[in-house]
Amino acid sequence: MRVLNTVLLLVAVPTALAVKTQDFKTCSQAGFCRRGRALAARAQENPASWTSPYSVDAGSLAISADQASFTAAVKSSLYPQIKFGLDVRVHDDGIVRVRMDEVDGLRKHYDEAASWALIADPTVSKNVKWTIGKKEVRAKYGPKKDVEIVVAFEPLKVTLFRGGKEQIVINGRGLLHMEHFRTKAAEQAQTTEEGLNTEDAQTVLSTNNPRAWFEGDTEDAYWEEQWSSWTDSKPKGPESLSLDITFPNHGHVYGIPQHASTLSLRTTTGESPYYTDPYRLYNADTFEYLADSTMSLYGSIPLMHAHSADSTVAVFNAIGSETWIDVSHPTDKSTETHWISESGILDIFILPGPKPEDIFEQWARLTGASVLPAEWSLGYHQCRWNYVSSDDVRQVQKRFDEEDIPVDVFWLDIEYAEEHKYFMWDEKSFPDPVEMANDVSANARKTVAIIDPHLKRVSTFPVYQEAHENGYLVKTKDSNEYEGWCWSGNSAWPDFFNPASWEWWHQLFKTEKIEGKFTWVDSTKDVHIWNDMNEPAIFNGPEISMPRDNIHHGGWEHRDLHNINGMLFSNQTYQGVLKRTNPAERPFVLTRSFYAGSQRFGAMWTGDNLGTWEHMAVGIKMVLTNSIAGFAFSGSDVGGFFGNPEPEMLTRWYQVGIFSPFLRAHAHIDTKRREPYLLDEPYKSIIRDTLRLRYAMLPVWYTAFREA
Ligand code: GLC
Repeated sequence: MRVLNTVLLLVAVPTALAVKTQDFKTCSQAGFCRRGRALAARAQENPASWTSPYSVDAGSLAISADQASFTAAVKSSLYPQIKFGLDVRVHDDGIVRVRMDEVDGLRKHYDEAASWALIADPTVSKNVKWTIGKKEVRAKYGPKKDVEIVVAFEPLKVTLFRGGKEQIVINGRGLLHMEHFRTKAAEQAQTTEEGLNTEDAQTVLSTNNPRAWFEGDTEDAYWEEQWSSWTDSKPKGPESLSLDITFPNHGHVYGIPQHASTLSLRTTTGESPYYTDPYRLYNADTFEYLADSTMSLYGSIPLMHAHSADSTVAVFNAIGSETWIDVSHPTDKSTETHWISESGILDIFILPGPKPEDIFEQWARLTGASVLPAEWSLGYHQCRWNYVSSDDVRQVQKRFDEEDIPVDVFWLDIEYAEEHKYFMWDEKSFPDPVEMANDVSANARKTVAIIDPHLKRVSTFPVYQEAHENGYLVKTKDSNEYEGWCWSGNSAWPDFFNPASWEWWHQLFKTEKIEGKFTWVDSTKDVHIWNDMNEPAIFNGPEISMPRDNIHHGGWEHRDLHNINGMLFSNQTYQGVLKRTNPAERPFVLTRSFYAGSQRFGAMWTGDNLGTWEHMAVGIKMVLTNSIAGFAFSGSDVGGFFGNPEPEMLTRWYQVGIFSPFLRAHAHIDTKRREPYLLDEPYKSIIRDTLRLRYAMLPVWYTAFREA
């Protein structure tokens, strides 16, 4: 239930809330996902004769001077004139990076996803020696020399062996396909070369086209694509990437958050009771989400662990565009996966394990460790939409103290901001924001205020004005400033892919006056930040987000980097909050949207859950899955965002919540107040004791973070 109004009646929330599934695509509603699944279906129909058309040109293979990496030309028998290039390297910690891109193509595939996720350019191992054979190139490495990476030439296949056993196989099922850039005119000329109308041309395609066995006989949604009331102009045409990754000898796979699903990922290709749609990664504002589904939620970390009793390995598919992942288990002891992405290059990192803790180390070395939180941020956070005035905040603090219930942080949701112009206090309700924050700080507590990325497009909002004048805002396909609708009404979005915007954003968090610039003088160094709606959420956009043909810095389309967008926002907020203190104090930044690497900048929460037992339960799995993907500082809204939990459920939720790394109670604006001091006995005392247990365990949490 969305509300844009600030004045609301306290109405009972209907119990049968559920995400509007029709607002979000299924695989069959996304052209490239249909194409990817159709490819897998054709392969399945012809298992004996199916071979990948991609092969390595052995003659072109060049090993680097230091022996650690090689490059080679790759060809597809479907399109002999199109060139691809392969680059394989082993890092000094044993991670293998495999990259493939189109060479001298009509356009460039997006190749910057890894650069946002990685902390540094990894060093390449000095102890790897590639041996070129007739049919493959191979390298043995590792402390016991029991790890071997083999790149087979025809068809192209990459296999990681350990102890002589296959652990990870890429393109073993022949589903690799990088759609090359083409021009619409050339395509049409080809299909209508005999002067046929489009329908006849498709028939000719299916009978005469040597590509049909692999790509299918129709050009499904290659160009303009319609969905619901939206048209995606798709000026670049088809550019999707399909890739199969098999884990022989691993019966379970984990990771690829964010989904409300089981910890061990389930088969997506079978009949009910299994899932029928692939796990989807496309960051979106899926409020009231389902408690058991492969639907995408707010964040994406394309890291998957495969696990068996004697081995754990992982793959990171560094892609920023929408990605669907089919999972199947041909036997109890093996897992097949199929990754279908809308755009981007092939950039796979193979994490060799062999133990789960090795994967965590390898992942942290690649994308960074979890931020070391300020100790106060591991305490209890009290939030709701909304504490409506500075006196309300003072009163809530007083009541906690009177009841002797521990709490460390008071939160302010969007209603603190005049017309949802973030940074600008509503003077009627918050006439004294600095004094209010100081009253909280006087008890050694902190304040967190929300800053969303949608900037109200009015000249009276200096933050928007500065972004507008400096050209820091995301553009439409026609190079105009993009306008969309969010909490603040007609809004624009900063483009944090533009490095020139970073300094500007950082300076907003300064609490001192700077002549000629907006700084947050109406805040204090004890006010920390909540970044929400950064998928980005746009109420009148396709799938409640941004049109895919919008343009970011460097000319990249939004589709290419959609899943990375949210991370750049919390990253820059983190840098800004860090810079406002000297010597630097640890910032606390909560983000809803995230990508691989977001763990470096703060905490996340699992978004707009429902106050139901199912949501309480799945929140545990979601937090664990996030931790598996390296983003441990996570939690769910205690009590459930929507609904009015019965006292027992609320109490149980606290009992669950104190065991998640990030502990915050939060509630929708339509819900009744439910601060723990409002409960009757015995619940109030149980929650007090529960929170005290959390505080008694703070050294454990702090040490665990230090170790992480
Ligand atoms: C979104 C957030 C929620 C917040 C609300 C208003 O729905 O997920 O936590 O309270 O926006 O800011």
